[in-house]
Amino acid sequence: MDPFNTRDGHLYAEGVALTEIAERYGTPCYVYSRAAIEEQWRAFDEAFAGAHHLICYAVKANSTLAVLNILAQLGSGFDIVSIGELERVVKAGGDPANVVFSGVGKRTDEMQRALETGIRCFNVESREELQRLDQLAGHMGLRAPVSLRVNPDVDAKTHPHIATGLNESKFGIPITSARAIFAESSTTANVDIVGVGFHIGSQITDMEPFLDALRRLLKLMEELESEGITLKHIDIGGGLGLRYHDEHPPTPAEYGASVLAELEGRPYAIVIEPGRAIAGHAGLLLTKIEYLKHTAQKNFVIVDAAMNDLARPAMYDAWHDIVPVVTGRIRSRERYDIVGPVCESADRLGKERELSVRAGDLLAVRSAGAYGFCMSSNYNSRPRVAEVMVDGENAHLVRRRESLADLMAGEYLLPSYPNGTCA
Ligand code: LLP
Repeated sequence: MDPFNTRDGHLYAEGVALTEIAERYGTPCYVYSRAAIEEQWRAFDEAFAGAHHLICYAVKANSTLAVLNILAQLGSGFDIVSIGELERVVKAGGDPANVVFSGVGKRTDEMQRALETGIRCFNVESREELQRLDQLAGHMGLRAPVSLRVNPDVDAKTHPHIATGLNESKFGIPITSARAIFAESSTTANVDIVGVGFHIGSQITDMEPFLDALRRLLKLMEELESEGITLKHIDIGGGLGLRYHDEHPPTPAEYGASVLAELEGRPYAIVIEPGRAIAGHAGLLLTKIEYLKHTAQKNFVIVDAAMNDLARPAMYDAWHDIVPVVTGRIRSRERYDIVGPVCESADRLGKERELSVRAGDLLAVRSAGAYGFCMSSNYNSRPRVAEVMVDGENAHLVRRRESLADLMAGEYLLPSYPNGTCA
């Protein structure tokens, strides 16, 4: 289902016209569809229905409370990488018992809080982390459930900034040292090794890297079994890509079927950590054209959203479809770069796009539900934008636009400065 549909030349989010949302909440703003988030989550759930599984939505993809709350209501688990993400999950009504904690640099205070809440497991990424966790759990008189994240050394064939499964990457325990660490972990007094996992990267559009990694881990698990180490689950990470432009990623159903075929006959539960594939197509960034600027070399559409609101094009040269919200009013098409007001040449949301537009029109930057708002910043002292969730015929503000006062809240002048406000 595409939650963003056109009726009489107007783009809608479910049953609400985007022109109405722009009027009510202003631009730029992120707009999400509840139905689309739910549909994608269910697609994963159905894809793995043939096995004992837990979907741990990767909170980093979109950590807005309303999004987490929708997923918590479906019974989702969560993959977190910080204590901030854990507190969000708890606040949104998620069950810590269904939380897995990934990341290479977990601090002691983060581990402590996670142990207190009783998370499902720590995805441990180094021997040093395992030792710290063991000690801490001992002090707290608790046992820490652990799954070791193994780096299988496979090429995910994605953008180098979002590939994590090659042996030069900081992530995971190299597969070559995994057995030694498993052997050691049987001597750690306060840790229970419950699983093993991998995450090889993001925006992966081909099954082969997943299956390659999976086979390598299954081989490792067989070796461990023969040494008497039995594991309960295998975590296959996230990473399933989206069609932003002309990619052809597997559907969740195809992804699930190939994974389950590979796991046939094995007794392990499966943990999956999808982020982008759940939230990505469920959101867009709504922006208004301030100016059309024509030069001898190029034409520019200058919009009110910028790289601080959506970092992906500037950071990864990522493609997002950009479409007018109202079509059919202007006939002439021109080729434009769509740029924002931020003072950086990289502040470009789209390059060389054919558009029929005029100043004042609204544009929708599609597929921005994942790694959109959550990666936004205040660069150029731009307040972070509003977020709106559409649910059927209703639009709800789920995060208000930051004010200029918000921008400066928490800052202090030096006491000796004139007009200081810190007395
Ligand atoms: N699990 C772990 C351990 C991860 O590091 C990630 C993403 C995921 C799951 C979820 O991956 P997904 O299903 O969303 O691909 N900011 C980049 C993406 C960074 C992904 C980081 N890790 C982007 O905008 O493309």
